Amino acid sequence: MARILITSAIPYINGIKHLGNLVGSQLPADLYARYMRARGHEVMFLCATDEHGTPAELAAAKTGEPVADYCARMHGVQADLARGFRLSFDHFGRSSSPQNHRLTQYFAGRLAENGYIEEVAEKQVYSNADKRFLPDRYIEGTCPNCGYDKARGDQCENCTKQLDPTDLIEPRSAISGSTDLEVRETKHLYLRQSLMKEELAAWIDSKTDWPILTTSIARKWLNDGDGLQDRGITRDLDWGIPVKRGEDDWPGMEGKVFYVWFDAPIEYIAAAAEWAEAQGRPEADWRRWWRTDEGAADVRYVQFMGKDNVPFHTLSFPATIMGSRDPWKLVDYIKSFNYLNYDGGQFSTSQGRGVFMDQALAILPSDYWRWWLLSHAPESSDSEFTWENFQASVNKDLADVLGNFVSRVTKFCRAKFGEVVPEGGSPGDRETELTDDLYIRLRAYQAHMEAIEIRKAAGELRAIWVAGNEYLQAAAPWTAIKTDPETAAMQIRFSLNLIRLYAVLSAPFIPDASAALLKALDSGDDWPDDLPAALNRLAPGHAFATPDILFRKIADEEREGWQAQFAGARR
Ligand code: 2FM
Ligand code: ZN
Repeated sequence: MARILITSAIPYINGIKHLGNLVGSQLPADLYARYMRARGHEVMFLCATDEHGTPAELAAAKTGEPVADYCARMHGVQADLARGFRLSFDHFGRSSSPQNHRLTQYFAGRLAENGYIEEVAEKQVYSNADKRFLPDRYIEGTCPNCGYDKARGDQCENCTKQLDPTDLIEPRSAISGSTDLEVRETKHLYLRQSLMKEELAAWIDSKTDWPILTTSIARKWLNDGDGLQDRGITRDLDWGIPVKRGEDDWPGMEGKVFYVWFDAPIEYIAAAAEWAEAQGRPEADWRRWWRTDEGAADVRYVQFMGKDNVPFHTLSFPATIMGSRDPWKLVDYIKSFNYLNYDGGQFSTSQGRGVFMDQALAILPSDYWRWWLLSHAPESSDSEFTWENFQASVNKDLADVLGNFVSRVTKFCRAKFGEVVPEGGSPGDRETELTDDLYIRLRAYQAHMEAIEIRKAAGELRAIWVAGNEYLQAAAPWTAIKTDPETAAMQIRFSLNLIRLYAVLSAPFIPDASAALLKALDSGDDWPDDLPAALNRLAPGHAFATPDILFRKIADEEREGWQAQFAGARR
């Protein structure tokens, strides 16, 4: 039995995530966690909400709530949706937790002790009306290059020229519109990650089994010059983790907080500490997942994220860990994803384009979405959600192949033998052949799941379902029963066992359907390590209940309705 630590990129607190966000980290991480648990491994699966930064502050200002209240409320909303999609986190934490405050301040202190922090004096725009420093993109004005009057302090959207806020003509605050701005000097902490370039490069080079998507992005940033520039890790904001050096105040840093991207990945560790506290467990119980000197040396740590998050996870966060010179666990494998597009364009949170998690659950149960999203995960390239494709997948894979198999077998059994596994007859060539075929497919399925090749795993699972249908079609117990009821009984017994096998193997993808089947069959979910034995698991005389329809088909009119409903922006 191995120990596997799994984290999903932690979603920003502001707003509900869309299906593209979901399939880029949380959902595949859940698939992997469920699979590894099913194989008997000890799993710690962590996620959280990413609660700091200007977007959180602005979102709260928009609803009129104090930012702490806004974050608490939205954490609840996101946690509910996570439950709705059956994301099986061991803990869903908050980057604003006291644990993360302590750990983030601790890491900053260690980095400073080891010479990896530099204090830098900078000039920055201060808004007297807003009583705050403004990040570049929150300053608007007229572009000196093209005259566009809504150019931002970092770039002009109209002519794409890169700008400094001081380049803007008639600059104003994007928050209040005030023009009462001045340039003030302010001091910030920089993480001297450039000092760790060699170390990071050697570490990335040692990861020969990582997906190309992950290593190519890491190498690009490492070698581009820009990528490993020292980075400011503090901000002049109210909301965030106050800058401290361990438990001590940091002279000159009063009123400042850590940059959201500094504290967010540290929340992966803090979430484990939050988990221990929530469970009433001692500190040692979470530290054995994170400290190689306290039991984590044999832990395998796997991270899931969208490709835009890769630089932070391959360079900045490892630099934080390495620079602490403490034995914290570094990631062993990073699974990254391309983008999921929506119906000929992009999913967009700011434009409300696409299907969002709450909307998806309002129209169909989570298994429908889980199956489509995972079987179309954007692994080797971007992929696209279209309603036609979604309808076709659900109707074919879930309703026609899996659902129909289950319903034909159980209804036939109920009609001819009653709701018990029938006895009589012994398996013949057809059953042996199918068992041999399933043995090979099961091995392939396991290999894909272990390698986190999600589309390939879904393809193999689908093939396993199809094989059962083909068997049933060829065996034709409805014909056999007329002349040879013993053989028909054996075929149905074998098929009922196939249903149980499908329930167990499919659980990581479609946990609700799987649980419903196992409940109907009144059977446990142990993994088919011994396939022939697993196919004899439901013995003659074992009672079952005919399950309800597993998956319903999506009608054309319904699909058209959704297409129209989701064509515009979310209100
Ligand atoms: O891109 C995002 O949604 C970020 N909130 C991910 C942060 S992951 C990690 F660093 F915690
Ligand atoms: Zn311009």
